[in-house]
Amino acid sequence: MCGIIAAASNRNVGKLLVQGLHKMEYRGYDSAGIALHQNKQIAHLRTLGKVKLLEDKMIQEKPKSKLGIAHTRWATHGEPSEENAHPHQSKDRVYIVHNGIIENYIELKDYLKTEGYSFTSQTDSELIAHMLDFFLSKGNSIIDSMYLTKEKLDGAYAIAVVDKEDNSNIVLARNKSPLLIGIGTDEFLAASDPLAIGQLTNEFIFLEDGDVAQISAEGFTIYDSNKKEASREITKIDISDQAISKGKFKHFMEKEIYEQPQAILNTIDGRVGGDDVLDNIFGLGSSDIFKNVKRIQVVACGTSLHAGRVAANWFSSISELPTQIDYASEYRYRNPHVDEDSLLITISQSGETADTLAALRYAKEKNYLSTLTICNVPTSSLARESDYSIFTNAGPEIGVASTKAFTTQLAALMLLALSLAKSRNMNPKLRTRVITAMRSLPDTIEETLKIKDTILEIAPEIANKDNALFLGRGIFYPIAKEGALKLKEISYIHAEAYPAGELKHGPLALIDENMPVIALAPESEIAEKLVSNLEEVKARGGTLYVFSDPSISMDLKSGKLINMPKCDFLLTPIIYTIPLQILSYEVALLRGTDIDQPRNLAKSVTVE
Ligand code: F6R
Repeated sequence: MCGIIAAASNRNVGKLLVQGLHKMEYRGYDSAGIALHQNKQIAHLRTLGKVKLLEDKMIQEKPKSKLGIAHTRWATHGEPSEENAHPHQSKDRVYIVHNGIIENYIELKDYLKTEGYSFTSQTDSELIAHMLDFFLSKGNSIIDSMYLTKEKLDGAYAIAVVDKEDNSNIVLARNKSPLLIGIGTDEFLAASDPLAIGQLTNEFIFLEDGDVAQISAEGFTIYDSNKKEASREITKIDISDQAISKGKFKHFMEKEIYEQPQAILNTIDGRVGGDDVLDNIFGLGSSDIFKNVKRIQVVACGTSLHAGRVAANWFSSISELPTQIDYASEYRYRNPHVDEDSLLITISQSGETADTLAALRYAKEKNYLSTLTICNVPTSSLARESDYSIFTNAGPEIGVASTKAFTTQLAALMLLALSLAKSRNMNPKLRTRVITAMRSLPDTIEETLKIKDTILEIAPEIANKDNALFLGRGIFYPIAKEGALKLKEISYIHAEAYPAGELKHGPLALIDENMPVIALAPESEIAEKLVSNLEEVKARGGTLYVFSDPSISMDLKSGKLINMPKCDFLLTPIIYTIPLQILSYEVALLRGTDIDQPRNLAKSVTVE
């Protein structure tokens, strides 16, 4: 993970580098640092903790510089500490920032030690600085040294380098970790994410794996993996201030929850027409390819995987296709057998999740009919490397806990289920029914958001507990899992999800007055069975909080029955997600946790 940023300018760059780090804190926030070229010396500042602490140090020390690199870290190798914070340096000459993981770091460190280099950190990254210095000391140019260093490195990296002997250029390298150049006014920039520099430019160049590049205040040069000068396309992206500020909300997560009516509208907009889904919304030729699909494989992580689990049900009931689902981190290691005419689907907010990307790259070597991604970031690696894609258009999601990305993924996956059915001439009436219901989804979500008042009543009862159980059945089991994930990641309350029918096979032993049980009980053909499962909880003194359709009646001894707005059954998973998001948020608020940046986590998980 981690966020890196670099700037070569004709003005002071300290402030813009720190502002860029703030925007990338979602990538990691356990320590931060900066290296600023000051002609004869490098100002090197590092702090343990969030970027704000680095900013405070910068305000005190006021270092001036027109060329610099900076980093916000999510620890992989070595605990969060000032020594392990980037930039790392070698002999006060080479300063580097790195995002990724160097897999053969032990071997390379041992080698560099025999060459007289000593290490001051526990990181895998520090060796990059020493390796560059090693090659520079043999008389190689900085670009050649970078190529020679790259030859030694196994793993993923985005690197930016400042050499004290050169006050004009910053050198960059990319392999399997995102890195882009931004074309500013009288300055050139580089960053892990366009968000970091979106206030300074709307023109970006995405580096490719194997690229080495150099930026200065005057221009840039890119070399490909064969050291040949390369030209790369300029991509225009407008990042508005509004999209990346909290506005009237206390947290990004809160803002993102309440943005969902608009976000879902943006996902659907331009993709449905009349009473059906439009053709080729997943890319030119996608509707033809879908005719031949016989089987689906989904790979994703975390919340995105939960979206896939819901969609598996839709692929079965709407598109009549069997679906296999894997954690992206597990998929490659189970020797997956790929049936003919299988479609591989990856789901990811960021499009940079290392496990998901590795699964896609692995799958491309197999005999899949095609690969398709559901993703929120059009410029991401997943988007660029998949045959087909649909963007959820949710806008930047900054809160670490995924909210609008999840519900928009569900909306996009529903469009996919409908498209697969349409290409295969299936279920026209069902398609019309779902499209009609999708059009009113934003309004239904708006109505659901009003549930906040009721949630405020129950949040204090859950905030003082150490555990919680979430129950759902069928298509609601993944929603229960998503509810449990949300609660644990931002409130640090231990939460588990079960299909309600499984309770009596073990977890019922946990039920007592200290175990709040949150259940999802929409109107469905198994509603009665679910109610019986909930009676089992009630009989054992458990406190039930049941989100349900008004038609379901239950007499609770303690807890609360909360009525949900009506909506087409196939879309209810989207609606029932909303109160669980609000509940987690309000509970975390009461517990005083760091909601947007919960401990130990990061938004974009670019390490395997
Ligand atoms: C949880 C959460 C994570 C992500 C997971 C995958 O709230 O956000 O579980 O869903 O890290 O990330 P993406 O979707 O970017 O691939």
